[in-house]
Amino acid sequence: MGLKVLVVGSGGREHALVWKIAQSPLVERIYAAPGNPGMAKHAALVPVASDDLPGLRDFAVGNRIDLTVVGPEAPLVAGLSDRLAQEGLLVCGPSAAAAQLEGSKVFTKNLLAKYGIPTADFRVFDDCDDAEQYVLTHRLPVVIKADGLAAGKGVAVAATYEEAVAFLREVMEKRVFGAAGEKVVVEDCLTGEEASYIVFTDGEKIVPLPTSQDHKRIGDGDTGPNTGGMGAYSPAPVVTPEVERKAMKTIFEPLLAGMRAEGTPFRGILYGGLMIERGEPKVLEFNVRFGDPEAQPLFLRLKSDLVPLLLQCAQGKLTDAGMEIDPRPTVCIVMASGGYPGAYRKGFPIAGIEDAERLGGVQVFHAGTALRDGKLVTNGGRVLGVTAVDKDIRSAIERGYRAVERIGWEGAYCRSDIGKKALERGAV
Ligand SMILES: Nc1ncnc2c1ncn2[C@@H]1O[C@H](COP(=O)(O)OP(=O)(O)O)[C@@H](O)[C@H]1O
Ligand SMILES: [Mg+2]
Repeated sequence: MGLKVLVVGSGGREHALVWKIAQSPLVERIYAAPGNPGMAKHAALVPVASDDLPGLRDFAVGNRIDLTVVGPEAPLVAGLSDRLAQEGLLVCGPSAAAAQLEGSKVFTKNLLAKYGIPTADFRVFDDCDDAEQYVLTHRLPVVIKADGLAAGKGVAVAATYEEAVAFLREVMEKRVFGAAGEKVVVEDCLTGEEASYIVFTDGEKIVPLPTSQDHKRIGDGDTGPNTGGMGAYSPAPVVTPEVERKAMKTIFEPLLAGMRAEGTPFRGILYGGLMIERGEPKVLEFNVRFGDPEAQPLFLRLKSDLVPLLLQCAQGKLTDAGMEIDPRPTVCIVMASGGYPGAYRKGFPIAGIEDAERLGGVQVFHAGTALRDGKLVTNGGRVLGVTAVDKDIRSAIERGYRAVERIGWEGAYCRSDIGKKALERGAV
């Protein structure tokens, strides 16, 4: 009897998870809650929202789910893992207490300071006037972070005092992110290049995925407002083997030891957002799940079965087996609705996905799509993650953009420079 696996979420990351899990000989059936049309080929879509904790628990109990894999952070921070564990069910994802690593920037910064883990110097404030006074004495640019979850909008890297004070007031007085703005972190602005370092962990042992890099801003050359992520590639040459070794020794190992010492061991997927300057990695933040869109290019490189890794994390006994990785680079180009991350319209018919996949070495992962009268239409800001593999990064980028050219809808937008940083670092 094979396993029944439930994937929670509806984005490109979760489509990539479903696609990869479907390749496992251990798995008999996959459910996605709520999922998206791209997943329907491999998974039964379950009409339960990813933040409906009682609904997810009832579904998992009622259908005797063997393993639940949680894509997004919000249900983890809200305690989905704890609820499933109470029912005796296996779940790959941290407890609510451990998910504070993403759910509270104050928690994380204090932990990093306590265990001597490299990160930007900071102060914490729960009073807006105090924070304002301090910010006005801070050198520019100054970084201000709302404590709690803010859907990627809770951080300002302010170049002027006006901007800094305006953001503080939005967060702490107007409470535009609700209770997430009860406290703020004010920290030094780090310089360097960002990269994502994602590991599987049972709380003690660590099995890292290959390195990757996201593209946060909407515009070419990292300009314009932040988004959920406009593209990613793997590997990221900025993370040299030496940087990787340092990240392990100075960041991940002491962090996991700290979490154990605090009585909140971390089990699941741990994502370090790192700033790397002159070969020294520092922590910008942690996420408690796979990156989106990093998961898409990472899973395209992963040759081993993902399911044993997810199971072992859930069971709290990761073996040293490691994983087999395709040495060829991969690139994911996000195609978004025109206007995103601002206002945009939905419901435009999408054409060309099969044509794009016919190129070979291309997987198109759905994010914001829906079926309307049997036709695929746009249904979100980030619509598709067009993901390609090839012999070197330049060819992977070219293949990815050739695939993108075959796909279209009214107002479709993507960045034209995904992967360029790797080329600038001399990767071929
Ligand atoms: N101390 C810092 N120095 C420079 N840039 C920063 C710093 N902290 C955050 N940033 C920038 O802001 C982005 C968002 O911050 P992050 O801590 O990752 O929060 P979140 O992902 O929750 O919005 C980062 O990807 C980075 O570009
Ligand atoms: Mg981030």
